[in-house]
Amino acid sequence: MQKNDVNDILSKAERYLRQQEELFGDSLYRGKADAPAARPAKAESWMGAGTLAALNEEICTCMKCPLGETRTKFVFGVGNPTSRVVFIGEAPGADEDAQGEPFVGRAGQLLNKIIEAVGLKREEVYICNILKCRPPNNRAPLPEESASCTPYLMKQLDLIKPEFIICLGRTAAQWLLQTTDSLSVMRAKVHDYRGTKLIVTYHPAALLRNPEWKRPVWEDMKMFKKLFDEAKA
Ligand code: URA
Repeated sequence: MQKNDVNDILSKAERYLRQQEELFGDSLYRGKADAPAARPAKAESWMGAGTLAALNEEICTCMKCPLGETRTKFVFGVGNPTSRVVFIGEAPGADEDAQGEPFVGRAGQLLNKIIEAVGLKREEVYICNILKCRPPNNRAPLPEESASCTPYLMKQLDLIKPEFIICLGRTAAQWLLQTTDSLSVMRAKVHDYRGTKLIVTYHPAALLRNPEWKRPVWEDMKMFKKLFDEAKA
């Protein structure tokens, strides 16, 4: 083979590899087994945000999933940026979508009462959802929507550094704990979520429909309050 032919083959191979690299980033060089789940291929500017306000500013125009097209407002989260406890719900509903704040409808009123029952105020804690945008007709989040929104929640938690997470409802808890366990199996115990204590309880909207679940919620919140007070002491 002539030297020119070899050079030609090499430059074609190089062009091909560069195209592949542009398309697939450095995942091109990793086997499937060692590819970290849901890791974005490239660093995005929101990842460097140093405050919740800066993060909100960076991501509030997100169009990563189709919910960006149908939302009215992006619902980032609300509350104390250094709170020791973060409440995490499922996704904004109609009231939240209209106002841009989580848990402001009937379920939100009940959540405020639950928070007050353990001697805290809404402004003292942090409240957010797995999804930042409302799914049409309040349907449950699709796994791909949760997957594309979860890095934002992780970043919020990195910035807040809470000691406790209270997961409201089965959908949010199953997603964070990556389990199919029922709510009755997940509640009444303390889980570990990436080094943070995570407690699961019924969603306030479910409580509105099933008032008999008030007692288990009260028990879960008492368990939380005891740990919360002990950790402070
Ligand atoms: N339900 C949720 O899970 N989140 C809200 O913000 C409102 C209702």
